[in-house]
Amino acid sequence: MKITQRFQLIVLAAFAFTLHAADAQSAGPQTEKIAPGVWRIRFGTPETLTPTHFRSAPIDLAGLEATPADSPMPLDLAKVSFQSSDRGCVLMLPMSPRESIYGFGLHTELFDLTQSFGQAGRRVFLKPTDSPENDRGESHAPVPFYVSTDGYGVFVDTARFASFYTGNVAPVGGTAEARGGEVQTSTTELYRARVQREKTMLVDVPAAKGVDVYVFAGPTLLDAVKRYNLFSGGGALPPLWGLGVQYRGYAKFGAEQTLALARRLRDQHMPCDVWGVEPGWQTQTYSSSFVWNTNHFPDPDEFLAKMRAMGFQMNFWEHAFTHPSSPMYDELKPWSGNFKVWGGLVPDFASPQARKIFLNQNRVALFNRNVEGVKLDECDDQPESATPWSFPPATMFPSGLDGELMHSLFGELYQQTMLEPYQEKGLRTWGLVRNSQALAGPLPYVVYSDSYDARCYVRGLVNEGFSGLLWTPEVRDASSIEDLYRRLETVCFSPNAVINAWFIKNPPWDQVDRGKNNDDQLMSATERQALTEGVRQVLQLRMSFIPYLYSAFNEYRISGQPPVRALVLDWPEDPKVRQIDDEFMFGDSVLVAPIFSGQKSRPVYLPAGDWYDFWTHRKIVGGVSIEATNGVKQIPLFVKGGTLLPLAKPVEYIKPDTCFEITVNLVGNQPADFILYEDDGITTAFSQGKQNQIKLHTDGTSHSAQVAGNYRGASRYKITDWKLF
Ligand code: GAL
Repeated sequence: MKITQRFQLIVLAAFAFTLHAADAQSAGPQTEKIAPGVWRIRFGTPETLTPTHFRSAPIDLAGLEATPADSPMPLDLAKVSFQSSDRGCVLMLPMSPRESIYGFGLHTELFDLTQSFGQAGRRVFLKPTDSPENDRGESHAPVPFYVSTDGYGVFVDTARFASFYTGNVAPVGGTAEARGGEVQTSTTELYRARVQREKTMLVDVPAAKGVDVYVFAGPTLLDAVKRYNLFSGGGALPPLWGLGVQYRGYAKFGAEQTLALARRLRDQHMPCDVWGVEPGWQTQTYSSSFVWNTNHFPDPDEFLAKMRAMGFQMNFWEHAFTHPSSPMYDELKPWSGNFKVWGGLVPDFASPQARKIFLNQNRVALFNRNVEGVKLDECDDQPESATPWSFPPATMFPSGLDGELMHSLFGELYQQTMLEPYQEKGLRTWGLVRNSQALAGPLPYVVYSDSYDARCYVRGLVNEGFSGLLWTPEVRDASSIEDLYRRLETVCFSPNAVINAWFIKNPPWDQVDRGKNNDDQLMSATERQALTEGVRQVLQLRMSFIPYLYSAFNEYRISGQPPVRALVLDWPEDPKVRQIDDEFMFGDSVLVAPIFSGQKSRPVYLPAGDWYDFWTHRKIVGGVSIEATNGVKQIPLFVKGGTLLPLAKPVEYIKPDTCFEITVNLVGNQPADFILYEDDGITTAFSQGKQNQIKLHTDGTSHSAQVAGNYRGASRYKITDWKLF
């Protein structure tokens, strides 16, 4: 540290706990309990433009009030310290040696899957990127929130590219032991941190002179995650159709070819709810005009009408960078950053003026045509590349955001902007986005990218639930038929079942190989027929899980419990699950263990309790690892004993009046409950109570379904059977 730098050290020996807003003038940290089990600690003078400043929904105080009121502050505040200097500020929080840490956003960790999926004992660097160049934590969705197996969560309210040293630093005066004299012959051994009796979490926030830290009580990791999600405003509820299958067509197709392909999917009875139109709908992309290309789509309204007549909900690709040929260009210019991307303006979505201008053009092109959703591309970055394509961190925006802050917030501000037209109409939407950040729970967008292999996609799925994120391991071409099946069945057990065929002309079930597919060298008729049937079967499995998944999303909205979760969230006491990053929970009671192409079998660890193999119904007593040898169309799924699993007769796509025929499976014949949620499936009226809860109950011998709530529209569910699993 330079001598000339100001240096401030505040050790928090004594803490004043108050339930009221703290005195901002005081030099010491201020602690405020803002809801049961949630505290804000203010250190120094925080920046104004932070994730909470731009939050997309108010704190769900009612949800938090429903959590235990007497949870104690989980951190020993006497051991917290803070420093600020000209380079930024630094926070040190106590850690115990036994803690495992999870979170910090998406972490697909493209490079080294042998690296711990837990985040303790390393440096995590939060910076958005479209292709992580290392496994430090840069990702599509870096989030300054972590949870600990000691049963608490910490959110650092910053949009700076912050670093977290998660127990691998040794402050002078700490308990790290000096190293012994032994000679090592590898640098890993040589430089390994010495054993410490107490560890330190060092949070390094550049540029800021202070920071707000929110602490979330447990007692378990899952409780802390739920509290964080409620603090964010609760989880997003998709429209029912959002849970169906999404097919994104070839980017070069115009109206005629798109309609022909869409008709083919319908003729094949391939489940599909959402059709994605890629960049080809615009006159100009990279950067973009936001104007229909009438050479390819001569009559957009007619095109949309024909797609809708086939039952598709329409989703359109765009990115934010605005081409000089766009009608909004001149108006937008003063409300944009001072650097361009691909020759286009970067709208300052933190300014109401930019939002308005940008939305007006999007209304003309898309929202006045009632498109059901959008895909917001390229709002991440490529900071480590020698030829980065996005705006530099030195960019300045009229709102006062600099390029660093804007990079961290860009995806979220873009999502919020594009959500407005739906909020105005009281409609739900379900979109895709390539960058997100903290407090994203209430935003109805799923993070995606086509840059990963199947194994990394699954690591993303396992990680998403720690940080209030949703992720799709989207599918397109494949290395083999087996690979296609394996990837499809994984995407079916994710928040959004997306087939992103933007660079292949024909559906992958006609030809899995990209080159041959685009040369129209399709597989033999027999192969195609078998694959088409097989793929249909796999997608139908997704459709049969929709009511169950809708319940999981309602649970996300109400209690903050993520619909897709790492096992460590549900079994925090089981040390064996702490490193499992290739199995996850899907909803309340289904454990998913994807098999990857080339694997003949895989080990599956089942935590304590009774489990039932979804396919064979064989009972397995948990606490063991078994070898799953499932064939290509049967992803390994295990259902918790003592639960009810409602499965629907699969529909091809969801209509406004779809009523699911449900078989309630009694998994292990014990008393059990399950709540189905019934509403109109498309509007936000559920948030005003226009929703029914259908309480399914069995006492082991008799069963009941009791309806409560204020939804009076068409029935969504018809229970046709209760069946022993
Ligand atoms: C990429 C995106 C793809 C596809 C493509 C279209 O950036 O990740 O999913 O949309 O753009 O140009």
